Amino acid sequence: MAAVLISLVGMPGSGKSTVGRHVSRQLRLPFIDTDQVIERRIGCSIRDFFETQGEAAFRDVEQAVLDEVTQLPDHVVATGGGAVLREPNRLALHSRTTVIYLRSSPEDLVRRLRHDTQRPLLQNPEGDPLRRLRTLFHDRDPLYRRTAHFVIETGRPSVHSLVNMVLMQLELAGVVPATPAAGETPP
Ligand code: S3P
Repeated sequence: MAAVLISLVGMPGSGKSTVGRHVSRQLRLPFIDTDQVIERRIGCSIRDFFETQGEAAFRDVEQAVLDEVTQLPDHVVATGGGAVLREPNRLALHSRTTVIYLRSSPEDLVRRLRHDTQRPLLQNPEGDPLRRLRTLFHDRDPLYRRTAHFVIETGRPSVHSLVNMVLMQLELAGVVPATPAAGETPP
């Protein structure tokens, strides 16, 4: 198969890391989660880094990491929810990778993130998380759409069906070869 670099973008809690990991396994490609690369590089949690250095410093590290990983061949990359905020990131993702946007509604996200304590942008105890997610979604949805080649509406299906939807989309678009159905002999 020709070089394939697939990236997943979307709101926090949309399933980028989980779906990305499964898709990479199915395609037998290495998986990279940019948040994990960033945490290794900064030597602390993203949450602590936000608190001590601020968001702009985090976005600088994120941009450097995205520039590096989008130059790797043959990987599946899960990005952080804010990866699309900077134009150079959007350009790097769109021009160097096949971008899948996992699109989830703020209502579904708030349900999935109700016990989250790690995402700094959602940690305002006095704030209303649904309102926060609606604002983020309103600002970012157009950016995710602009960056992506394909949009997958996540709704509430299982991880298994989401992974199949992503694989099917990639196969239909000719990004990866079609997997033969059970019992079918490959050509
Ligand atoms: C962020 C999302 C996080 C992480 C950081 C900032 C954002 O990643 O990169 O906390 O701006 O939405 P996830 O989307 O994996 O939660």
